[in-house]
Amino acid sequence: MGIINIKDLKPKMVLLGDIKDCRGRLLISKGTVLNEKYLKICRMWGVVEADVQGVSPEDLYASAINSFDAAAVTAAEQIVQERFCHNDMTHPAIRELVRLSTLRIASGRIPYLVETDQDDDAAIQRHKAELDRIRKRIPLNVNTAQYIGDTTKLSTLPAIYRQIIDAISKPSSSTYDIEKVIRMDTNLAARVLKIVNSAFYSYPSKIDSLSHAVNIIGTKQLSTLAVGINITSAFKNIPSEIINMKMFWKHSVLCGICAKVIAGYKNIQNTERMFVAGLLHDIGRLVLYNYLPIESLFAATTARGNHSLLTVAERDLFNFDHSTIGGDLLNKWQLSLSLEDCIRHHHDPERSKNRVEASIIHLADIMANVMGIGSSGERLIPLFKQEAWVQLGITPNTLSVTMEQAEQQLEDVFELIYTDEQTH
Ligand SMILES: [Fe+2]
Ligand SMILES: [Fe+2]
Repeated sequence: MGIINIKDLKPKMVLLGDIKDCRGRLLISKGTVLNEKYLKICRMWGVVEADVQGVSPEDLYASAINSFDAAAVTAAEQIVQERFCHNDMTHPAIRELVRLSTLRIASGRIPYLVETDQDDDAAIQRHKAELDRIRKRIPLNVNTAQYIGDTTKLSTLPAIYRQIIDAISKPSSSTYDIEKVIRMDTNLAARVLKIVNSAFYSYPSKIDSLSHAVNIIGTKQLSTLAVGINITSAFKNIPSEIINMKMFWKHSVLCGICAKVIAGYKNIQNTERMFVAGLLHDIGRLVLYNYLPIESLFAATTARGNHSLLTVAERDLFNFDHSTIGGDLLNKWQLSLSLEDCIRHHHDPERSKNRVEASIIHLADIMANVMGIGSSGERLIPLFKQEAWVQLGITPNTLSVTMEQAEQQLEDVFELIYTDEQTH
């Protein structure tokens, strides 16, 4: 009758098709009547959906939406129509995201959408004259070398990151060498230990030493994580009227966790790398907010007025967007090429050299926007590329499962990154 999400499976349902794990191995045969034991097997093996008799995804959505107040549903549907206006509503992934978004908004789980308008209006009033001046100079002739060029503050990473990156890239480096570098910075070592003990990994027992963490997680993975979580502290002092930094990092951490979860479904090794790519995907916006705050406010105001995507408004204003300057910054920092490529192409993964990874960040960003927790300044749902969906080869039911997992991990990981970012 219909392929439904794992969370909707109930005992006594009858399978119309085999259930397989992510590697294609048979777990439960078709015709089986489900019971608690089978449901547990499904959860254990990360099954996301099953074909069952007598229930359709449409019926389940209808009964979920009918449990909310009719006025709240109508209002939610209107917001969703506006937020997805640049997307193809007939695409199966978008259709599912629209449903998930409607349910979230109707249930009142997206507070940020309401707050942001008043803050923006106040900032626009305060900077009216400057915004008018910018309007007369479009497109702005921005030389990015001024902000991330060789002589600028952002052009180099603090020595500790350089040492970690050098230690990872030297074939002669041992686990001990890398551990030694991380240990040199006690704050860094403490953060690494905190993250390995967080919901991000959910290890059953406590990992109480750096060497234990290195052994379990692996040097490369741990170093990637160490560099990623510390880069957040390179940006401080951005005026809060331009961007709420807490909201910015929430969106970024959420994107990172979604990317890590999707990478897990795709059997990609070193999912920490995907987390870091998600964490840093919009870092170009921080360069813009930091050095061109009023221009960034102009781009946000224009996007809002025209119902266009912020990325498009950025391109119209600067002749480039945040993904380009973000990619350039990572290049300057000499981080790995695959990380740079993911960030440069998170809005156009079809142009990436590593399409699967860039597609993961592309989708993770869209999911983080749909979830409406945090924001990097974009008010609408970014344009979802059909090519990314083809590259990923996942099913629409994977989206809600990923979102649920990401939401469970979010607070734990966010607290760790954002609190430290403020005090570092
Ligand atoms: Fe972006
Ligand atoms: Fe984003």
